[in-house]
Amino acid sequence: MYKKEKQRKLYETSKAFLKQESISSQKQAATDVIALREVIVYHEWRYSVLNDPVVSDFEYDSLYKKLEAIEAAYPDLLTTDSPTQRVSNDLTSDFETVAHLTPMLSLDNSYNAEDLNDFDERIHNLAMIPEGTDIEYVVEPKFDGGSIALVYENDRLVRGATRGNGVQGDDITKNMRALGSIPMVANFSEYGIQKVELRGEALIRLDNFKRINAKREADEKPVFANPRNAATGALRMKDPKETKARGLEAFIYQLGYATDADGNDVLNKFPTHHEGIEMLAQLGFKVPTIERKLCKNIEEVSKFCLDWQEKRDGYDYEIDGMVVKVNQLAIQEKCGYTSHHPRWAIAFKFKAKQATTKLLDVEFQVGKIGQISAVAKLEPVALAGVTVSSVSLHNEDFIKNKDLHYNDTVLVERAGDVIPYIVKALPELRDGSEKPIQYPSNCPSCNTVLVKPEGESAWRCENYGCQAQVLRRLIHHVSKHAMDIDGFGERYIVRFNELGWLDTVADVYRLDYDKISEQEGFGKRSADNLREAIDKAKQNGIARLLYSFSIPHIGRSVSKTFASEVEDIRDLKNWTEEQIVNLHDIGPKVAHEVITYFQKQENLDLLNELESLGVNMKRLDSEKKQEAITDGVFSGKTILFTGKLLLMSRTDAQAKAAAAGAKAVSAVSGNLDILVVGEKAGSKLKKAQALETVEILTEEEFLARIG
Ligand code: IVH
Repeated sequence: MYKKEKQRKLYETSKAFLKQESISSQKQAATDVIALREVIVYHEWRYSVLNDPVVSDFEYDSLYKKLEAIEAAYPDLLTTDSPTQRVSNDLTSDFETVAHLTPMLSLDNSYNAEDLNDFDERIHNLAMIPEGTDIEYVVEPKFDGGSIALVYENDRLVRGATRGNGVQGDDITKNMRALGSIPMVANFSEYGIQKVELRGEALIRLDNFKRINAKREADEKPVFANPRNAATGALRMKDPKETKARGLEAFIYQLGYATDADGNDVLNKFPTHHEGIEMLAQLGFKVPTIERKLCKNIEEVSKFCLDWQEKRDGYDYEIDGMVVKVNQLAIQEKCGYTSHHPRWAIAFKFKAKQATTKLLDVEFQVGKIGQISAVAKLEPVALAGVTVSSVSLHNEDFIKNKDLHYNDTVLVERAGDVIPYIVKALPELRDGSEKPIQYPSNCPSCNTVLVKPEGESAWRCENYGCQAQVLRRLIHHVSKHAMDIDGFGERYIVRFNELGWLDTVADVYRLDYDKISEQEGFGKRSADNLREAIDKAKQNGIARLLYSFSIPHIGRSVSKTFASEVEDIRDLKNWTEEQIVNLHDIGPKVAHEVITYFQKQENLDLLNELESLGVNMKRLDSEKKQEAITDGVFSGKTILFTGKLLLMSRTDAQAKAAAAGAKAVSAVSGNLDILVVGEKAGSKLKKAQALETVEILTEEEFLARIG
């Protein structure tokens, strides 16, 4: 529908409008409304039809608001075909079109407590409620799936439709019948309702989404970019069985229309939104429960919205905000509607998780074992509350698979794990200035020719003396999980190395503190602190020491296993590959690396040198192997504590559980046997309840069980 060149122009125009701060001058306004309408229609098409937006929701909303603002300032410029006068279009030609009983409108947006206060003030004005009088609101999640409208007549589901253009939608009745969460029959007549239209959202749970994508990947089918795409696609399946197989769930959040046997409007039978939703729950519909709140005033609304902004990542479904609705229908009626949205409701949008920006440059970095990784430098962009200016590109395959180029426009996402990443490039926005990203063939630090070991994805510099690697290894050696030398940061390492004081890890333990205290920025005090931290590190056990050497594949947990097996770290030189792989949880890769390391005389010399400098080589008592408790009440079981514990500290609780034979785990999964819940347990409890295989204990029950 749009040519590439056109798309690029529209994108650039969008960005230009987004940068513009003030509203257009009268002279400029006439051309601006036309341009804005064009870009908005384009973004609506990318979003609704392609399911592939090129700007974030926040950016789209800003453009929309800009247009609204100009139209409000210069009403002469308003036309009936402006995107502000209709809702977006996602009709497809594959299904029959049906008319909604009442239009499915959109929602106005808000982004912070101030916007919500403005909304509350508007409601007071529209409904002529005196200032200072609290208005009740219901807050519920703004589900990010595909919207649906369901019609029941004489208690039977007779029709299901997509939102379409808001007035008409696609008839997807057959697919809706396939969803377990949608009752085929519901007893509306009990409430005197003969015909009713319900509004809701079809969604795919996040865990289900992961499963679907894993399967698609195994089947070599393209994976879905997000749960929303998977859900909207599932709504329009030709075969209802396929809709069912996607595991769609329908949440109902609104009564749109209700009449009795004589055709009279009976929507207001329920004086409040809250009661209407409660009725739907009674009738067997899936409605938001713990995530829905009846708030007594706008302050409570703000608090609830901001709380959810924090905990959205722990929720089972993708939500992009909350929806705030006036509870009393009488007040709703007084507020009325615009052609675009009800005036009595507003969406509170969470901070954007996705944004587009330019990939300016790529930096190739050398890791502690010589692996070369690529880091993209981006034009800084705001994303879910932080500014992102660089992201990891991992390795060459990542760059190839995503077909990334210098100067590409890229879509960046910051998801639950807070590490931003590049979702994809937008090749349709290229203007010819893009250059392919060449992976280097030589080490960016020492120029050694790089190699790629079989079965690995990273190119490696195999020069052990490579300056970049030397520094990386030193930084790792002193780091928190390795020797944990407090205050010995990267800056000092680089500086001491430049001064010629620090090349090997042994040098760490023969620093001249007098010389250090004479250094600029150092005093006697900081030199003393450093000495103290290093002296303390000398007492570490085998696990930290082994981990600190940057041996490939030797992580923290493997190091602990080895530490529990030997008296002195140097004993490892006598172990055979066979002995090592017999250890619990240790495979041939690790065995090979340990053997290689301890066969090298220079490494054994280093260990002896470290010992002569006072570094401990022996196992600590705390590192001794714990005999597995096989006859405890929880032997063979996994356990997890969640919420605030009132009867014991968490460490205490874990020790008690271990003494009873339980193994601690950190997440709720199919592997979890027991969940002990303290006060204010949240998403972990919900997840465990949903799994149905987890035994849930209170603190008292837990203590009673272990006696
Ligand atoms: S109420 C007349 N409630 O957001 C009331 N909408 O941007 C209008 N949405 O098309 C909708 N969660 O698909 C409402 N709890 C919720 C919602 C919700 C998601 C969607 C809905 C609507 C869009 C508006």
